[in-house]
Amino acid sequence: MTRTLLVAGNWKLHGSINMTIDLISSITNGLSANKKYNVAVFPPFVYLSQAVMAADKELLVGGQTLSVFDSGAYTGEISGTMLKDIGCQMVLVGHSERREYFAENDTDVAHKFEAAIKQGLSPILCCGETLEQRENGVTEEVVANQVNTVISLVGIEAFSNAVIAYEPIWAIGTGKVATSEQAQEVHAFIRALIAEKDATIAARLPILYGGSVKGSNAKEIFSMQDVDGGLIGGASLTANDFLAICQQADALSQ
Ligand code: PGA
Repeated sequence: MTRTLLVAGNWKLHGSINMTIDLISSITNGLSANKKYNVAVFPPFVYLSQAVMAADKELLVGGQTLSVFDSGAYTGEISGTMLKDIGCQMVLVGHSERREYFAENDTDVAHKFEAAIKQGLSPILCCGETLEQRENGVTEEVVANQVNTVISLVGIEAFSNAVIAYEPIWAIGTGKVATSEQAQEVHAFIRALIAEKDATIAARLPILYGGSVKGSNAKEIFSMQDVDGGLIGGASLTANDFLAICQQADALSQ
């Protein structure tokens, strides 16, 4: 079973109208014409419309989070219906920064995943452990809880239109990348967890690695059996850095 690689750029709280247009056009111009992998960008909400237009169907575009509500008196929220309406195909749920700084727990994340699926968006469910949890040997337990809470709410079928991103928190924005063996170990664990419920969905599920991915380490990580691409933060903010990662996906997908 071969899965299509996905290289996804999470811009976090960075951007402007000019950056959105320039960065997306530089990326689309720099990608090889016959690429056999997918590329997605996740700009801040206010730039998503520009991003969808600039991407012109060459790239997938998604929000960095979404509301659990569809509409109503929820000031400040953005729903999956709205993301879908402006042309997004994907949405991140449960990024560790949302969990840490905005107090989203596993149950909140599961409801966001459910809202995304209901609106026909493909969610990227982010999971991963802190350094302390890794040192205490509870990485698998933490990741299993994060994933199982979602499965309990939405059922395994919902994962046929989803992506999981394993992002060890100690590797995000720190320059400390997990070794390819460490990544593979957790990715294989996640796939086995899904396979316990449905082997076909597990075999097709893209599992991305995130945490200090760069052009110089992408090839080694992406070439692991259960790693199907990356969720890129810092290196997604400049076209050359992001394209350097895409080139590694290119080499691996030929
Ligand atoms: P990083 O971020 O590539 O800057 O480590 C990854 C992420 O947060 O998705």
